[in-house]
Amino acid sequence: MTEVEVWWGRIDQVREEYADDLDPVEAQRMNAYVRADDSARFLLGCTMVRSVLARRFSLPAASIRLNRTCPECGGPHGKVRADGVELSVTHAGDVVGVAVGDAPLGLDVEQVDPTIDVDGLARLSLSEQERDALPQDDPGARARAFTALWTRKEAVVKATGDGIRTDLRTITGPPAGFHVMDVTVDRGYAAALAVISPEPPDVRTFRFGSGPRR
Ligand SMILES: CC(C)(COP(=O)(O)OP(=O)(O)OC[C@H]1O[C@@H](n2cnc3c(N)ncnc32)[C@H](O)[C@@H]1OP(=O)(O)O)[C@@H](O)C(=O)NCCC(=O)NCCS
Ligand SMILES: [Zn+2]
Repeated sequence: MTEVEVWWGRIDQVREEYADDLDPVEAQRMNAYVRADDSARFLLGCTMVRSVLARRFSLPAASIRLNRTCPECGGPHGKVRADGVELSVTHAGDVVGVAVGDAPLGLDVEQVDPTIDVDGLARLSLSEQERDALPQDDPGARARAFTALWTRKEAVVKATGDGIRTDLRTITGPPAGFHVMDVTVDRGYAAALAVISPEPPDVRTFRFGSGPRR
């Protein structure tokens, strides 16, 4: 059975001392963010990954080495990887998510913004059929439905590691060998998890900093 843990944290959980466990490249990335909340989201993501892996492998968090080498250019901004486990990290608004498991996976969270240009974004990312199926009258419902679809597609391209190189219009439902599901986060957010495995994964969701949520 493929087992996946999804952990959710909020940026108000960030503490200055969390930065002590960053490696030098991560510290440099954290300090390079112009906006304090980008920096906080990045730091919390690093802390959550280390903490979840520390528990999993019974190792001190600071000893967990993460690798984000970009396959395109060698820079430190690619999919986060660690030995012996599959990982995905996502951030949006106040929320940071980490998925860990024994099969390749992708997690994506987005804030639902009722003022987004759904038509413009949908032309670039949805198939014609998906565009036609969006709710027509209620802008809030339309934005929610669009964002849910978007997170499912992003979760898929984050599971493969291909990222935005893939034309999202071509992903209309789970590709063969993928399991894609919506994940509940806070109100005002949409999130999805994609797992590449032969059987449906057993997914458990947790709140970072406390016990199992359900
Ligand atoms: C990955 C991507 C889909 C995520 O976009 P997003 O919704 O803005 O951001 P999220 O917060 O959900 O995800 C960010 C996390 O995705 C991970 N990530 C980065 N590139 C990734 C990839 N190709 N596949 C999967 N995950 C990736 C990182 O772990 C990052 O977390 P970090 O801040 O701890 O490093 C998008 O940024 C992307 O496609 N990037 C790659 C672009 C690229 O190929 N650049 C080449 C530069 S040479
Ligand atoms: Zn790169």
